[in-house]
Amino acid sequence: MERTLAIIKPDGLQRGLVGKIISRIEEKGFKMIGLKLMKIDRELAERHYSVHKGKHFFEPLINYITSGPVVVMCLEGKNACEVLRRMVGKTDCCEAQPGTIRGDLGLSARFNLIHASDSPESAIQEIQLFFEPDELIEYHKTIDNWVYDLTGEAPV
Ligand code: PPS
Repeated sequence: MERTLAIIKPDGLQRGLVGKIISRIEEKGFKMIGLKLMKIDRELAERHYSVHKGKHFFEPLINYITSGPVVVMCLEGKNACEVLRRMVGKTDCCEAQPGTIRGDLGLSARFNLIHASDSPESAIQEIQLFFEPDELIEYHKTIDNWVYDLTGEAPV
């Protein structure tokens, strides 16, 4: 199983979409192993988005992500990074496909509701930035027997 980090951004919280977004993630079958409401300060924002430093959108991005409370989640699942990125959709909500979170819930390029780690390597770093080890809860979800085929049989 792979882990990924998701952040419901300030617009998601202000627009009252936290429950709806978390529902979509839960319904997909992901296991939530970390969850917190927080306000990201400038230092943490700059570390989180350090690969984008120098790009034209860096300052607006930092201002946006620090502009209000966010909900941060650590999720576990099969191919979690790739699957969640596909559920999130393209950066610009107007270009994101219907059926994706951004495609269904947003109309802005910048206020795009949710962040999701772009690779398992980024996820490891991002999870460490946002969660202490004891804030991540390992547990067994019995429903996983029905989310995943755990019989060991090859798919036909
Ligand atoms: S890149 O250059 O292809 O890596 O950029 P991209 O993956 O599309 O976006 C990286 C993050 O920057 C955000 N972004 C922006 N913020 C503000 N203004 C503009 N114009 C802008 N363009 C991109 C984008 O939402 C990504 O943030 P996260 O949180 O990862 O979604």
